[in-house]
Amino acid sequence: EGISEMRLKVNGTLRTIQAEPRVTLLDALRERLDLTGSKKGCDHGQCGACTVLVDGRRVNSCLTLAVMAQGKEITTVEGLAKGEELHPLQAAFIEHDGFQCGYCTPGQLMSGVACLKEGHAKTDGDVREWMSGNLCRCGAYPNIVAAIRQVEQ
Ligand code: FES
Repeated sequence: EGISEMRLKVNGTLRTIQAEPRVTLLDALRERLDLTGSKKGCDHGQCGACTVLVDGRRVNSCLTLAVMAQGKEITTVEGLAKGEELHPLQAAFIEHDGFQCGYCTPGQLMSGVACLKEGHAKTDGDVREWMSGNLCRCGAYPNIVAAIRQVEQ
């Protein structure tokens, strides 16, 4: 299996990597581009720790081939803050204790950003349903919902 060149636009910057065609977007981000914010929990689409946005839609980057993300806008947790200024949802996570160990937080944030953008944050129940694919072993769920709801209001 050959190595091929891929061009990925991540957080507004076009990057070039050499990788096998089967490399996942998650491994491309973490291992080739040193963007280790996206986490590998299960590597099987079941925990949401690897969630990123591709053309504004959330995806599990462990289930996405990097080649398929070429030509699209990839946004990772590293792209949320503007310099020193946190994204409003990052600030709300701090205010509401939306994390404990922090491992799931990047995925929670990216899913939460999509939740807000796609209009699924109108009620606590809507948020819980949208966020159900993002697991938190510390059980910070009520705080995560509160943070997303605050940004919505
Ligand atoms: Fe992708 Fe768990 S690492 S869903």
